Amino acid sequence: MAAKEKFYVTTPIYYVNARPHIGHTYTTIVADTIARYKRMCGYDVTFLTGVDEHGQKIERSAQAAGKTPKQFVDEVADDYRKLWDNLGLAYDIFIRTTEARHREAVHKIFLAAKENDYIYQGTYEGQYCVHDELYVTDPTEDGNCPDCGRPTEHVEEENYFFKLSELEKPLLDHYEKHPEFIRPESRRNEVMSFVRSGLRDLSISRARLKWGIPFPDDPGHVFYVWFDALTNYLTGTGYGDPARQADYERLWPADVHLVGKEIVRFHAVYWPAFLLAAGLPLPKTILAHGWWIFDQEKMSKSRGNIVRPQPIAEAMSVDALRYFLLREMILGQDSNFSYDALLTRYNADLANDYGNLVSRVLKMIEQNFDGLIPPGTNVNDEDKQVVVAAQRAITETKSFFDNYEFSRGLESVWVLISVLNKYLVETQPWKLAGDDGKRKRLESVLWTAAEGVRVATVLLAPVIPASADRIWKQLGQEGTPESQPLDTLEWGGLKAGTKLGKVEPVFPRLDKAKTTKKIEKLEAALDAPSAGGKPDATGSFSGGFTVDEETNLITIDDFTKVDLRVGEVKTAERIPKADKLLKLTVDIGSEVRQILAGIAEHYEPEPLVGRKIVIVANLKPRKLRGLESQGMLLAASVGDEDRPVLATFAEDVPNGARLK
Ligand code: ME8
Ligand code: MG
Repeated sequence: MAAKEKFYVTTPIYYVNARPHIGHTYTTIVADTIARYKRMCGYDVTFLTGVDEHGQKIERSAQAAGKTPKQFVDEVADDYRKLWDNLGLAYDIFIRTTEARHREAVHKIFLAAKENDYIYQGTYEGQYCVHDELYVTDPTEDGNCPDCGRPTEHVEEENYFFKLSELEKPLLDHYEKHPEFIRPESRRNEVMSFVRSGLRDLSISRARLKWGIPFPDDPGHVFYVWFDALTNYLTGTGYGDPARQADYERLWPADVHLVGKEIVRFHAVYWPAFLLAAGLPLPKTILAHGWWIFDQEKMSKSRGNIVRPQPIAEAMSVDALRYFLLREMILGQDSNFSYDALLTRYNADLANDYGNLVSRVLKMIEQNFDGLIPPGTNVNDEDKQVVVAAQRAITETKSFFDNYEFSRGLESVWVLISVLNKYLVETQPWKLAGDDGKRKRLESVLWTAAEGVRVATVLLAPVIPASADRIWKQLGQEGTPESQPLDTLEWGGLKAGTKLGKVEPVFPRLDKAKTTKKIEKLEAALDAPSAGGKPDATGSFSGGFTVDEETNLITIDDFTKVDLRVGEVKTAERIPKADKLLKLTVDIGSEVRQILAGIAEHYEPEPLVGRKIVIVANLKPRKLRGLESQGMLLAASVGDEDRPVLATFAEDVPNGARLK
């Protein structure tokens, strides 16, 4: 037997500075769907995901949580892995960039690039954006990062440089020769014009940072976090481990690096440049998807407008979430996330169209044929329309899925599902059932409908694997729908006489308002403080606090658990329909926080901008009016009406200074 062709798909490795949300979950679910689909197409698939643990951003988050970086990343990395496991996302490799195997890979690619004369030492003086972990050569007038708008920091140090400027031409040649290298097309055009506008050499080391991979022979420097992070895709193959050369050769180059659009430049410019310099083959495709938008903004950890996957999975099901994310977002474009859209899609598509179809057909087989699938005889024109629809769904869905167009692929399956529903309306099997002379026709109609369900269920398996499997068992089929090779999927495979499994609803209709409430309640429970100062299942932290019952005193250790910081108000605005709340963004040095403060009745927003205030920086984030508040500001409470008066300083103090 010929060896199966390999297929290697990756997600970005996520920063462990905060809790995963629907955005990260989307990417991991798409990769999981690609992996499952390609397996059904006969490929030997490897699916890599993991976490990005180094860099200044993480170092500072650890500091803010009062932990060593190592303690901090160990806990959060574990939470990521557990979350993916709980959601049934079947990755094969989970990379942590703090692992020894990864350090070996980073050293190896660096030394190869150095050997080929792409590395030199020099001085870097310029701005750095900690949020994007990016050297900023063109800050805005206010010194902010042009990408994310946050303040940049001045850096001046002896660095190792990478000769990116020499690779302008080879990169452009590669984009020209391989139009599929960056997808979709719009992103490819952006990248090409970015490269055409000229590339400067890139600093790939940090001298002042401790939290990173040290340079070989020069431990005073650690690798720039993106040089470190991107190499993870090689680490996963065994690169850097002499004993695993064969694995590396089999897996590399990767077939698809799936990424969000904000990190295309790193993946489509820096990464192929590092690989070219080291003389290594380039990945086949960088596939960039758009953003989930919530409350009119990109859903992001730092903005705090996040929706998390666990409450939805629990209140609905993992497959309800998977289906919604893949059906709703056209890969490449942005999409709005709303609970209303989530429940509307669930009820319309999964509960009504597909779920009802399955229950009606299988119940009629139970009632009329003792749960044995009847033979499909007597094929007439009505039946033939179903056959044609099924054949078309097979071809179209596969071709859309091959092209990573999951939304359109699902639409093709739904064309088949609506043809099947229409078929039942037209053939009225419930009427045939009462008429002994129509027995043969009833057999044929129910076989045809059940065969249509079988075909749809196999096609849906990569997207809703657990539900498809339950329906498969109800249809009395052996194995799993995912074990069905897609190249041989065709009409007519359903065997008469097969005994159905236990028939029960897989997608019960859900009350919109009640389910939304339930999700919100579960979400609030995730935010609630957990005891003992351990991170909760999502990687956020709370300190165990003990108050002496007799004296009502706390210890100095308890006090130091509260991280009080100086912050500067960057923006302040009212929140529509919330009379008491102001939404502030506050720069606390390491990051900019969004804080909702109940001071709107006493402070006008505009004059607050530029003021130095005191905030509690390690308070569990909580949601108010759908917005996350990432801290609390301190104010004296004055008079009977508790008028707040903001705590402030008489002398100048830098942002982020700790009060202790
Ligand atoms: O960038 N909508 O990590 P990260 C859709 N460590 N996808 C989203 C999203 C949103 N609103 N928010 C996040 C990093 N994502 C680096 C990557 S790779 C060598 C290093 C997804 O934790 C999307 O895939 O900021 C995005 O690219 C990724 O999470 C960024 O995760
Ligand atoms: Mg990010």
